[in-house]
Amino acid sequence: MTRIVVLTGAGVSAESGVPTFRAADGLWEGHRVEDVATPEAFEHRPTVVHRFYDARRAALAGVEPNPAHRALARLEEAIGDDLLVVTQNIDDLHERGGSTRVVHMHGRLRAAWCRACDGRTDWYDDLVDLPPCPRCGVTELRPDVVWFGEVPYEMDRIVAALDEADVFVSIGTSGAVYPAAGFVQHAAARGVRTLELNLEPSAGTHLFDEARHGPASVLVPEWVEDLLR
Ligand code: OAD
Repeated sequence: MTRIVVLTGAGVSAESGVPTFRAADGLWEGHRVEDVATPEAFEHRPTVVHRFYDARRAALAGVEPNPAHRALARLEEAIGDDLLVVTQNIDDLHERGGSTRVVHMHGRLRAAWCRACDGRTDWYDDLVDLPPCPRCGVTELRPDVVWFGEVPYEMDRIVAALDEADVFVSIGTSGAVYPAAGFVQHAAARGVRTLELNLEPSAGTHLFDEARHGPASVLVPEWVEDLLR
């Protein structure tokens, strides 16, 4: 069977109503990255950072997976372990759409990480009021997300999957943030076939063997149906 690694970004969740980062009305238009998405910001102004992520965590309650998430879940149902979804997204829409083989390389909004005991706990409420860690009782919880300047999660597993893949598909990502933006070159150098599915050409669109442009809710189900036909 064909082994497939899918990389997703904010564009796959856009049609669910989750804002992307770099659009004119995107999250990074309203906020300076360095104010909310760096360890330094959290050290100096934890309340601002907590409020930013608390608002985004709360917003997840009001959104649903869209046909792109569901199509990737159908693909997993059909090919099982031969599919790995690597997402830069911190929402949980892949899981709610039915995917189980998902790597959250930038962490998860619905998880808290205790800096005192290093434990991770599923988390659905706010963190701004500094609740105690359910494991150790210390009030040192932070959102379990990867900030700029931190190392993305599970890079070894991702690189191993890319090395063994036959196909690499990048969905809904601008290709602006490394290391994810470099996966296409890593894959191509190993002879992996590469495909971009994005609303518009990404920064690295020329690096792909093939690029299709349009909404993920249309392109992803079409690609999956083709593959499974
Ligand atoms: P961006 O906001 O940079 O890019 C989203 C991409 O999705 C753009 O290329 C859009 O054209 C495309 N897009 C928008 N709507 C779409 C739709 N309906 N269908 C298909 N494509 C669509 O978001 P990311 O590439 O995910 O990191 O950003 C990467 C990382 O930068 C994020 O994980 C985050 C951010 O700063 C951290 O916070 C560490």
